[in-house]
Amino acid sequence: MRTIRILLCLATVLPLAACAEAIAENAHPRKFGLPIDGLSPAQLAQFERGRSKFSRLFTPQTGLGPLYNDNSCRACHGLGASGGPSERVVHLAGAMVNGGPSLLESKGGPMIQDFAVFGTKVEQVPQETTALATRMSPQVWGLGLVEAVAEKDIVSQMAPNDEKFKLGIRGIANWEEGKLGRFGMKAQKKDLKVFTEQAYDWELGITTPDRGTEPFPNQSPHKVAKAELSQDELLDVTFYQRYLDAPPRGPITAEARHGEQLFTANGCALCHSTELTTSPNEIGIPVGVKLHPYSDFLLHVMDEDLADQMVQGASTGQMWRTQPLWGLRVRTKFMHDGRANDLDDAIVMHGGEAEKVRDRYKALSPPEKDAMRSFLKSL
Ligand code: HEC
Ligand code: HEC
Repeated sequence: MRTIRILLCLATVLPLAACAEAIAENAHPRKFGLPIDGLSPAQLAQFERGRSKFSRLFTPQTGLGPLYNDNSCRACHGLGASGGPSERVVHLAGAMVNGGPSLLESKGGPMIQDFAVFGTKVEQVPQETTALATRMSPQVWGLGLVEAVAEKDIVSQMAPNDEKFKLGIRGIANWEEGKLGRFGMKAQKKDLKVFTEQAYDWELGITTPDRGTEPFPNQSPHKVAKAELSQDELLDVTFYQRYLDAPPRGPITAEARHGEQLFTANGCALCHSTELTTSPNEIGIPVGVKLHPYSDFLLHVMDEDLADQMVQGASTGQMWRTQPLWGLRVRTKFMHDGRANDLDDAIVMHGGEAEKVRDRYKALSPPEKDAMRSFLKSL
């Protein structure tokens, strides 16, 4: 497609501006799912191994189940390229038990898998359930960069300032075993290795060496003596996700630039932080890389209608991690369960701490709203 446009340019059939855009695009190929720059040949080989294992199709013979949601990571994380989002949703259950939150682990919770292998009963929503949550699959691009941001640089965004105070924006951190939670929609997980182990367990029913459990219908997870996944495969898939580059920006028009100014001026960027920087880290990500996730990775109280009542760590049922907006242009549904079919709906659904900022958006003129959306569609 791009080549055709450049050929047309050479034949001077297209207007000059379009030619400049086509050539600029060609100079910087914009592809999703590539590794970050500067990997050694050995690292590239590990990235490729991880990429192919991320797509590995499991069967009951290779360990799938007994309960599972799908048969590969890529089945849910693959729109646009490997590691992308999808519209696939999963279901979680929780409850208040004896006055406190419970993930119903002894009743098969919190993940209520959709499928069971032949001979196993499909899991039922436990009777005690008071919170039934639906979550749509996010992308995993750029998450190693997020893991390499210093805790203090994320936590410092909690500091109040005049503008936040005026708008009622706070934000709190979630913690897992003393480390900052950054992954998952409630920022419930501290790093990509533990998230990956949990995904093998909960989504595929595949046991990993360090975790060693798998789900059974409406029972506590069973400990398994021999892991179904090798440590090497787990580390390759973790490595792959850590070194996946951030989703690249799409073409940036003058309208999108205007929208970006409005995004910042209206206070959207008080939660959807536009820039973070990597610091010295234990996972080998280069230091000083600037990333633009459009998220502070903190939890905010949102509209009551968005609440799913699932308590995960410090996150109440009404709190959500600011959803990163990079890569947004491959999505067609928005918000944690995909309830918004377009960007205008998604923004209008903001409430709670985002209420005043949302009202500012509502007060924009139609061309300004268009500009804001064209900025979001360039991400
Ligand atoms: C059936 C669909 C499904 C499958 C299969 C699946 N995931 Fe996910 N994934 C999700 C959903 C839904 C979430 C959001 C969960 C949440 O935050 O509660 C998620 C979240 C994630 C995240 C965190 C993203 C973020 O923004 O913090 C990572 C990392 C991840 N998955 C990796 C994996 C890996 C690795 C596999 C394979 C072992 C896998 N997933 C298999 C649906 C799936
Ligand atoms: C108080 C913090 C906060 C403010 C201010 C805020 N957002 Fe959000 N935003 C969030 C949270 C949290 C979510 C995730 C909510 C969910 O998934 O239910 C979100 C989700 C979104 C989504 C959906 C992303 C997806 O992948 O589904 C879009 C689009 C968005 N915000 C745009 C905006 C715009 C535009 C503004 C300014 C008008 C704004 N936000 C202001 C916290 C905020």
